[in-house]
Amino acid sequence: MKIAIPTEIRQGEQRVSMTPDVAGKLVKAGFTVCVESMAGFNAGYRDEEYKAAGAEIAADTKACWDGADVVLKINKPEKHPDGTDEVDLIPEGAVYVSLLSPMFEPELMQRIAARKCIAFSMDAIPRTSRAQFMDALSSQANIAGYKAVLMAANELPKIMPMLNTAAGTVQPAKVFVLGAGVAGLQAIATARRLGAVVSAFDVRPVVKEQVESLGGRFVELDLGESGEGEGGYAKQLSEEAQQKQRELLGDVAKGMDIIITTAAIPGRQAPRLIEQDAVFEMKKGAVIVDLAAGTGGNVEGSKPDEVVDINGVTIFGPTNLPASMPKDASQMYARNISALLELMVQEGKIDINWEDDILAAAVITKDGEVVHEKTKERLKAAA
Ligand SMILES: NC(=O)c1ccc[n+]([C@@H]2O[C@H](COP(=O)([O-])OP(=O)(O)OC[C@H]3O[C@@H](n4cnc5c(N)ncnc54)[C@H](O)[C@@H]3O)[C@@H](O)[C@H]2O)c1
Repeated sequence: MKIAIPTEIRQGEQRVSMTPDVAGKLVKAGFTVCVESMAGFNAGYRDEEYKAAGAEIAADTKACWDGADVVLKINKPEKHPDGTDEVDLIPEGAVYVSLLSPMFEPELMQRIAARKCIAFSMDAIPRTSRAQFMDALSSQANIAGYKAVLMAANELPKIMPMLNTAAGTVQPAKVFVLGAGVAGLQAIATARRLGAVVSAFDVRPVVKEQVESLGGRFVELDLGESGEGEGGYAKQLSEEAQQKQRELLGDVAKGMDIIITTAAIPGRQAPRLIEQDAVFEMKKGAVIVDLAAGTGGNVEGSKPDEVVDINGVTIFGPTNLPASMPKDASQMYARNISALLELMVQEGKIDINWEDDILAAAVITKDGEVVHEKTKERLKAAA
């Protein structure tokens, strides 16, 4: 059974979906792992390392995808500079796995379905304890939370920890984290390790304890309702509560040196939390990193993959921070995706048990059709 590992072609992408050690385990289990030449180079993994692990190296893209039974990727199918569309490269009947954000691109899912492949999306894997080994959203969000703090600290015109020196005392930086999910909690931990004074807010009150256990202060805001949704995720607040939140957060933002925003509700545009008026009131030199810039932004004025200056406040809107830490991000992703693959294989062959709750939740297309319920709803609404 041939497992193809193509080079990621998204602009700025440095990661690879498979690392030599994980490839070696798949080879030992009897699979043919075919890695496109140089696919791992930017992540720090050379062709020779894959070869030493028993993988084959495909000379070009076509040789990699051709005849594959399984294609493992990170990003959704994209177009090569020469116009070759990755959707057209998916072999009929193959299993295709990557992050697909199906609800944001339902028409692309229809094109993938037309290839008659079984497509799974790594971002549709449920956040259950059994599925945690496969949870690529969490592994990558952890890296994003970490890197967001480094990015902000690097830009900040002051140092992070408190310093007592002969030249006097320097006060620590004040960091505020909005949204204390996976990325937010890692941002809190990273900012604390750098010596900042950290506070955080989330609409799910249950995270208060987690924030405090990392040394952060949980900011209590009375919004008149809780944002606790199902399955450990947030639900959308009423319009009234959202407006109240923006007003209250404006007051908190004024005193901060760094704000990291990570607020998200699955399958929806990011909630707007900080308005431009509030940014105007912040200290000159303050830095905001809006991790939700790719899904509409938590901060008014942030732009995807751009750096914006509003009245002396720098706002970063990175959409793919894990790509900037490609070595570990690839390592974690490779473990996640191979754990998912393991679920689909019995006695060395693809044999999918559709009763399995993880596979049933993560499948997006099969039998030539889009089968993911929420994506189907989006398609119906758009028709
Ligand atoms: N830019 C990047 O490189 C990058 C990488 C990974 C993830 N992300 C993004 O980071 C965000 C967070 O990812 P995650 O995996 O930590 O998600 P998560 O679901 O674990 O956390 C999101 C948190 O936001 C909270 N939240 C929702 N609405 C809120 C509101 N109105 N006010 C305060 N908190 C609110 C939720 O309760 C939850 O705790 C997502 O938008 C994700 O797409 C960005």
